[in-house]
Amino acid sequence: MSDKGKRRTFFTVLAIFIGIASMLLLSSFSGGSNDDEKGKLRLEKVKAATSKNTKTCLVCHENSQPGIVESWRQSTHAEKGVGCFECHGANASDPDAFDHFGSSVSVIVSPKDCGKCHAKEAKEFLASYHAKAGEVLGSLDNYLGEVVEGISASVSGCQQCHGSKVEVNADKTFSAETWPNFGIGRINPDGTSGSCSACHSRHDFSLKQVRTPDTCGKCHVGPDHPQIEIYNESKHGIAFKTHQEEMNMDSEDWVVGEDYTAAPTCATCHMGATENQPSTHDVGTRLSWNIRAAISFKTKNSDEKRKEMKDVCLTCHKPNYINNFYKQYDSGIELYNEKFAKPAKEILNRLKKAGKIDPTPFNEKIEWTYFYLWHHEGRRARNGLAMLGPDYVQWHGFYEIAERFYLELISEAEELMPGVTKDILAKPEHKWLKSGMSKEEREKVIDYYSKRYGKGE
Ligand code: HEC
Ligand code: HEC
Ligand code: HEC
Ligand code: HEC
Ligand code: HEC
Ligand code: HEC
Ligand code: HEC
Ligand code: HEC
Repeated sequence: MSDKGKRRTFFTVLAIFIGIASMLLLSSFSGGSNDDEKGKLRLEKVKAATSKNTKTCLVCHENSQPGIVESWRQSTHAEKGVGCFECHGANASDPDAFDHFGSSVSVIVSPKDCGKCHAKEAKEFLASYHAKAGEVLGSLDNYLGEVVEGISASVSGCQQCHGSKVEVNADKTFSAETWPNFGIGRINPDGTSGSCSACHSRHDFSLKQVRTPDTCGKCHVGPDHPQIEIYNESKHGIAFKTHQEEMNMDSEDWVVGEDYTAAPTCATCHMGATENQPSTHDVGTRLSWNIRAAISFKTKNSDEKRKEMKDVCLTCHKPNYINNFYKQYDSGIELYNEKFAKPAKEILNRLKKAGKIDPTPFNEKIEWTYFYLWHHEGRRARNGLAMLGPDYVQWHGFYEIAERFYLELISEAEELMPGVTKDILAKPEHKWLKSGMSKEEREKVIDYYSKRYGKGE
């Protein structure tokens, strides 16, 4: 039989298959199951909306991946006729397209693919730092992950948050070093960056799920960026846990102040709509500082961005309260920058310039000390300031910064190059280290303890 003939026979068989499958499906709808009327009506709607192309996919995948098909059936997509083929159908010329039982299909549904129907979301997402998160190959952290630790650590660690560069094998499968991967800045075979499924659960694409803080907490977690831990310990996180059920988490529009008022989630503050501004997929549009860099700096148009964040806060708080909050925040960031981050960086620069440390990163103790200071506790303190986590500001933050700075960085630097920190330590904010407590201050402390706990401290 010719290839063409084979294909025709295949499609005839397929058509019969589809016929039987549809009949079975229909009979299950009318078979007096326990489904309530609403559920039945919904499934009929889904069925009526499903395209011819997608019906061919269901014939096989209904049996082989019932999990995927059922999850999709629950989705708004299914109701609106957006099925397997509408998302996975690909141009035969796409680098990752493969011939799949007569259709051209790709596994990856890139921002460009979703963007055919969701242009606004895709454009905003692609303009954000999220979409650039795969471009960290030149970073110090990447040297740490790939060289100091090892490539497998990067593949299953860094890249699962940041994104891999997905490589297509000759047979159109993906390489195991780069797939599966749902990092937020994944570099896709079609040249686009990012993965919508980093946040959106497939295949139900549930709004309720994506608005939940845990969605962000897959990545915004841990010793160097503990946003989820901070949120959970904040009054906002506590209010969310208490009132989640009252927050219309699955409503179509989700405008704070209209659809819910009980608590803000990560999505509320960084993405969500208010009565005055639409929702956005660029999570950077409301940030006035960059607080992950070694030394914090103001973002471009920071006043405008701050205004947009304040607009969110003002749905639930009064202006004075929020203005003061921002004063406290700014002042904490300045403290970190001026007292610790800038001097620490200056000390490292002096040592480098004098040839006391070589240019290779992470091969000398003091480089690890400095990395901890800004990348771990330095970020923890700053994020605690931004999002109401006092324990992260203090005990996981400034306390550890101070310890690292005074007890490790300074003494390690002095060992390498005596005198290198002298002028820095002479500044008023560090003077206490050499001059110590005055007699009066010491007496005040003794007095405090004896008043509180009685004599004997
Ligand atoms: C004749 C049965 C059949 C039909 C029709 C079919 N598939 Fe598949 N599909 C399979 C099987 C079997 C596999 C797993 C083996 C493979 O990768 O080829 C699979 C795998 C896949 C994969 C995953 C590939 C991977 O590497 O993870 C996707 C995505 C997919 N199918 C989508 C579709 C879409 C979309 C359609 C409809 C246009 C469709 N399939 C139609 C049987 C089918
Ligand atoms: C709204 C778009 C959309 C629809 C509709 C859709 N998918 Fe997917 N599918 C995705 C995305 C996104 C991924 C993850 C790949 C990625 O990150 O790009 C995926 C992954 C997959 C995978 C590979 C992952 C795995 O778990 O094995 C299979 C197989 C698959 N889809 C099958 C289907 C089938 C069958 C249907 C129809 C019932 C379907 N998809 C409908 C978007 C869609
Ligand atoms: C063929 C067009 C099409 C494609 C491709 C598509 N969608 Fe949709 N999507 C829709 C339609 C239609 C709706 C219904 C709401 C609307 O009309 O905007 C929708 C709704 C949604 C919703 C809201 C779900 C809800 O329950 O209200 C999300 C989230 C979503 N899409 C994400 C995605 C993502 C992510 C991708 C790519 C993986 C994608 N969509 C691909 C057409 C599409
Ligand atoms: C658990 C998820 C996760 C892992 C694992 C992870 N990162 Fe990150 N990374 C993030 C998040 C989230 C941020 C943003 C932090 C913030 O804004 O506070 C980030 C920030 C960064 C930045 C700063 C980017 C900028 O714009 O300043 C670099 C560089 C980086 N990571 C590289 C790496 C490397 C390399 C690895 C592996 C050694 C790694 N990360 C491991 C989630 C992760
Ligand atoms: C950082 C996580 C994240 C990523 C990545 C993400 N989304 Fe979303 N998406 C959300 C959140 C959160 C909502 C709910 C926003 C709201 O209602 O306030 C949402 C809502 C949506 C909606 C419903 C309508 C709307 O705009 O509120 C669509 C459609 C959508 N996303 C498409 C996409 C597409 C397409 C991509 C990839 C280009 C994508 N999303 C990537 C978190 C994300
Ligand atoms: C799959 C991992 C992942 C998920 C999920 C994720 N993020 Fe991120 N996020 C990152 C990484 C990585 C960065 C740092 C990107 C860079 O600078 O290269 C980042 C950066 C950010 C930034 C700083 C942006 C800027 O312009 O400076 C904000 C704010 C943010 N994320 C909020 C969120 C919110 C809110 C959610 C949930 C709705 C979320 N993220 C979900 C990985 C993730
Ligand atoms: C009440 C509102 C609010 C909530 C809830 C919230 N944030 Fe934030 N977030 C802020 C503010 C305010 C800042 C600092 C903005 C500035 O610098 O102007 C910030 C800063 C950040 C940054 C720092 C970006 C950088 O410079 O590196 C990240 C990342 C982030 N938030 C992620 C999250 C995640 C993830 C969640 C949920 C676990 C969350 N946020 C919950 C308001 C919020
Ligand atoms: C959807 C409503 C809502 C939004 C939006 C909101 N908050 Fe709150 N906020 C609350 C609730 C509820 C509490 C807890 C009140 C309580 O438990 O007594 C709270 C408490 C606070 C507190 C007191 C913290 C404490 O430990 O008691 C501060 C400060 C605060 N919010 C600042 C902000 C800032 C800054 C923003 C914007 C970046 C913001 N809030 C956005 C609802 C909101």
